[in-house]
Amino acid sequence: MERTFSIIKPNAVADNNIGNVIARFEKEGLRIAALKLTHLSKEKAEGFYIEHKERPFFGSLVGFMTEGPVVLMVLEGENAVEKNRKIMGATNPAQAEEGTLRKLYAKSIEANAVHGSDSLASAEREINYFFDKNEVKARF
Ligand code: PPS
Repeated sequence: MERTFSIIKPNAVADNNIGNVIARFEKEGLRIAALKLTHLSKEKAEGFYIEHKERPFFGSLVGFMTEGPVVLMVLEGENAVEKNRKIMGATNPAQAEEGTLRKLYAKSIEANAVHGSDSLASAEREINYFFDKNEVKARF
């Protein structure tokens, strides 16, 4: 059993797609082990994307992630990291497969509806960055 970290980004929250995204995760066998709706501060978003600090889009990405509420989630399930990435589709919605969350709900490579951890190590860092240990409850 694995855990991964997911964010429903401001564009998907603004478009009323929280329920659609969560329903899809549950339908595919992932369970919600922790969840919160919050509005990220600039500092929190910068810390989250720190590995992209030198990229040209860093400031714009942080601006976008702080423009409205987001939903932070810990997803649990078999092969959760890879499963979540398949459900999300490619980072750039123009390249995302039909039926993936990004094909359905993303507007651009920045407003791409969802974030998901790219490895188990990232998942652990990202979960610990947003959740206290006692906020994450095992569901299996
Ligand atoms: S990586 O590290 O090269 O694989 O980066 P990638 O997965 O392509 O993207 C990392 C996150 O940066 C966002 N991104 C962008 N935002 C704004 N403008 C541009 N051009 C851009 N390119 C990538 C992308 O949405 C990724 O966000 P997360 O939250 O990690 O999905």
